[in-house]
Amino acid sequence: MREPVDSPFSPGADTPPRIWAGRSQQLNDWNSILRPRRISGIDERGRTFLGEAGVGKSSLVRTIARDAESRGDWVTDQIRIPLGSDPMQRLAGELLNLANKAGLSTRPRQELKAILARVSSIAAFGVSLELREGQEGDEPYVALTKLLVELGSAAMAQGVMVVVHLDEVQNISDEAALSQILTALGDALATEVTVTAPGGREILRHLPLAVYLTGLPEFEEMAHAQQGATFARRFLTNTLRPITDEDMQAALQGIVTEGWEIPDQHGGSDYVVLDPAARDAIVDLSKGEPFLFQLAGAYGWYAGDSDTITREDVLAGWSLVESEAVSHVCRILDRLPERERQFIEAMAQIDSGRRTLTAIATAAGYATPQQSGAVPQRLDQIRGIISRGKPYAFRHRAVEAYLTTDWPRIEAD
Ligand SMILES: Nc1ncnc2c1ncn2[C@@H]1O[C@H](COP(=O)(O)OP(=O)(O)OP(=O)(O)O)[C@@H](O)[C@H]1O
Ligand SMILES: [Mg+2]
Repeated sequence: MREPVDSPFSPGADTPPRIWAGRSQQLNDWNSILRPRRISGIDERGRTFLGEAGVGKSSLVRTIARDAESRGDWVTDQIRIPLGSDPMQRLAGELLNLANKAGLSTRPRQELKAILARVSSIAAFGVSLELREGQEGDEPYVALTKLLVELGSAAMAQGVMVVVHLDEVQNISDEAALSQILTALGDALATEVTVTAPGGREILRHLPLAVYLTGLPEFEEMAHAQQGATFARRFLTNTLRPITDEDMQAALQGIVTEGWEIPDQHGGSDYVVLDPAARDAIVDLSKGEPFLFQLAGAYGWYAGDSDTITREDVLAGWSLVESEAVSHVCRILDRLPERERQFIEAMAQIDSGRRTLTAIATAAGYATPQQSGAVPQRLDQIRGIISRGKPYAFRHRAVEAYLTTDWPRIEAD
């Protein structure tokens, strides 16, 4: 019997759902580029994944973090930065946890002790109090860089990586704090240490350190305003796009063909299968949004207890979460600056084949296309909501569906 607790679509507290769609490029980047290069001492930038709410930024890095942990790497928790909090304090606390796990705190070196003491004080009191009290010692960012370098060196000796994940980075609204954080992490990424190669030669190498930053698209401009070209030199920024239908279908193929193993009541196992028509309904309703994909899948699973998830189950489940699907889209639309939202709405009024800049500008009430200024470019490059092809099109298919059709409502058939 299928029970809600067995749903492979539902995420856990800090774990991504087991049915996972797409993102192979980013996972491959970790597996085949970032980790092996850094482990062998070659420079590789930090990674920034930005994108609209629910596109799957946090889950992607938690998936990478789980892989890293399974290889024995030293991985921070997901360091969420609440608005108005002191991000240096949060980072200091997490790095101390890693230092404990790595056993650094028990080493007797005097210099290391001083670094740990300094970082402990940042973790306890935060940066602003620290600066106000005129604390002796290194600037906070210098202390954090030093601790990262110590962690990296210890990891290097064990052949593992240090992985740092800062989430909700757009909330680092304080410019001084943003500068300190980016400098601390960037300096650690750029640090080279001397090691002795076979044959006694001394060589310089980078540390086995990976830094992932995740957050809303606004972060890129904040970081550039703060650090300019230095940010681009130290972090590679990637705007996450929705998932393709093919990737969603592929993610569901296993449960369609082989079924999903669940425990039965007699200590054995049963298999739950997804009807092909149910699979198509999930893909169709999700519009490429990971958040909606897991919602449609989970509620389809919850809708019955038989061994087959039918299309009817998916539709019945979806009818319970329609308002959540609407909120998901509205969260994105409501955050847009007035002119960007106007542009999107004008675009939605025009038939999909006729969405030229001129037609959209006219629909938005501009005298000339030029008056739309940087708006189309921002919606394309920074937010990933539209693409400026010929004609213009929506990348964010849930936004399009919401503005141009009855979606998420479905007619019972
Ligand atoms: N590739 C994926 N396959 C399946 N489910 C996913 C995938 N990525 C994310 N999800 C699910 O989608 C939901 C939203 O993901 P997540 O919280 O990572 O998005 P986010 O971009 O961090 O959103 P926010 O901006 O609100 O923090 C989560 O429930 C997650 O489990
Ligand atoms: Mg998130």
